[in-house]
Amino acid sequence: MDHSIPLSLYLLFSLPLSLLLFLLVRSSRHRGLRLPPGSLSFPLVGETLQLISAYKSQNPEPFIDNRVARFGQVFTTHVFGEPTVFSADADTNRFILQNEGKLFESSYPSSISNLVGRHSLLLMKGSLHRRMHSLTTSFANFAIIKDHLLGDLDRLVRLNLDGWTGRVLLMDEAKKITFEFTVKQLMSLDPCEWTENLRKEYILLIEGFFTIPSPLFSNTYRRAIHARRKVAEALKLVVRDRRRESERGERKKDMLEALLEDEGRGGDGFSDEEIVDFLLALLVAGYETTSTTMTLAVKFLTETPLALAQLKEEHDAIRAKKGESETLQWNDYKSMPFTQSVVNETLRLGSIISGVFRRAIMDVDVKGYTIPKGWKVFASLRAVHLDHDNFKDARSFDPWRWQNNSGSTDLLNLFTPFGGGPRRCPGAELARAELSVFLHHLVTRFSWVPAEEDKLVFFPTTRTQKGYPIIVQRRDMSRTL
Ligand code: HEM
Repeated sequence: MDHSIPLSLYLLFSLPLSLLLFLLVRSSRHRGLRLPPGSLSFPLVGETLQLISAYKSQNPEPFIDNRVARFGQVFTTHVFGEPTVFSADADTNRFILQNEGKLFESSYPSSISNLVGRHSLLLMKGSLHRRMHSLTTSFANFAIIKDHLLGDLDRLVRLNLDGWTGRVLLMDEAKKITFEFTVKQLMSLDPCEWTENLRKEYILLIEGFFTIPSPLFSNTYRRAIHARRKVAEALKLVVRDRRRESERGERKKDMLEALLEDEGRGGDGFSDEEIVDFLLALLVAGYETTSTTMTLAVKFLTETPLALAQLKEEHDAIRAKKGESETLQWNDYKSMPFTQSVVNETLRLGSIISGVFRRAIMDVDVKGYTIPKGWKVFASLRAVHLDHDNFKDARSFDPWRWQNNSGSTDLLNLFTPFGGGPRRCPGAELARAELSVFLHHLVTRFSWVPAEEDKLVFFPTTRTQKGYPIIVQRRDMSRTL
């Protein structure tokens, strides 16, 4: 039970400030500008309650559909205390993402930015961001996946699946796999009691992202700050040990080593605190995203038996050429075309990062309108992915749509589950590999049925309500081989 001061009291305190902000927003400066059409609705709450109630329902799409029908694909709304320009248009989204640092800058709610720490990649700007973004990408690119990570991934997925029997809560299992894998990738640590304890603290930390960012008003946030402190202390010990090892000339080939060797901000290397923030945020970024996508892939496949059958066929054929315990190799990974279609389609239909927030750093002209300096902008990736004009029968799961045109630039311009521009997800290829290896072992080793009905929910994040419990049964591998 949350014994914090109730939300209504919090709103009461913040009311005068928000009212002032609202009046300022409607101030004369904006009267001369041609703002995107839309509705700012009521002071303080704007359209926040409509948005929340839509996204808490089974079908959140009408919130956007109705506004697009009335105002067009770029419209103004007022959500979470601020006027916000909302884009459901692929070209505008691309313009926003490509102009990161020039016309727009990323903008996270304070609940997230306080908890990830100021030295994380998510909050870095300018040339340091460019350098560290490229360093992060280089630790998750094709060559690294091929030479190192695929083997680790294969081993960790097998290890986790070995223990599966009877009822399995898929979302929890997927989270465990992605967490253990990311710890291995970043710091070369194998799963153990320490990593599991760290993960438990992470769960508390992430819960703090979606609550009122005030320790006074929210128990969840207070717990998240406490968990953040514990995670940072644990990571600091790892960083110190590795710094000593590195000074003795013992080198490992992982992200932490690269950070220890980097010249840092001022040329003297990064401090322990900077490295801890950096690692902590990477663990956050890959954890919920990849595990939720794994869970959604299984849900969509279960509900589409033809697709599941075709996927099994593809993976049984790969396994048939190898022994039961032989590790997947790069050429196996590269011979999973239908799996890649399933992954694409899950990313599109799931759109678990429904969009990205930016803030205009100057008045910006878009599609004949002006977005005033300081305004928030939401580039909705989901709205583009679920638009029937962009994808035929856009709201159903159809992996076959990717089969003949996966290389088409038109489609790739519309399909941006990993964002774009300078902040494009550095973990994109890794996430694809994680999904593919997981699906390989899942379908070759198990058949399953849902343990109970479980629906999608969309607020505060997209996931299934109950974490998708399934009943698993081991397949007879001799029939596959
Ligand atoms: C299915 C899984 C994933 C999805 C859908 C996803 C999606 C995204 C999106 C849309 C962004 C852009 C945010 C923005 O522009 O503001 C992003 C950024 C980011 N992602 Fe991912 N991601 C996934 C997995 C991962 C993984 C496995 C990692 C771990 C390496 C990761 C690390 C990051 C980081 C560090 C950023 C921030 C980049 C920056 O601000 O420069 N993501 N992700």
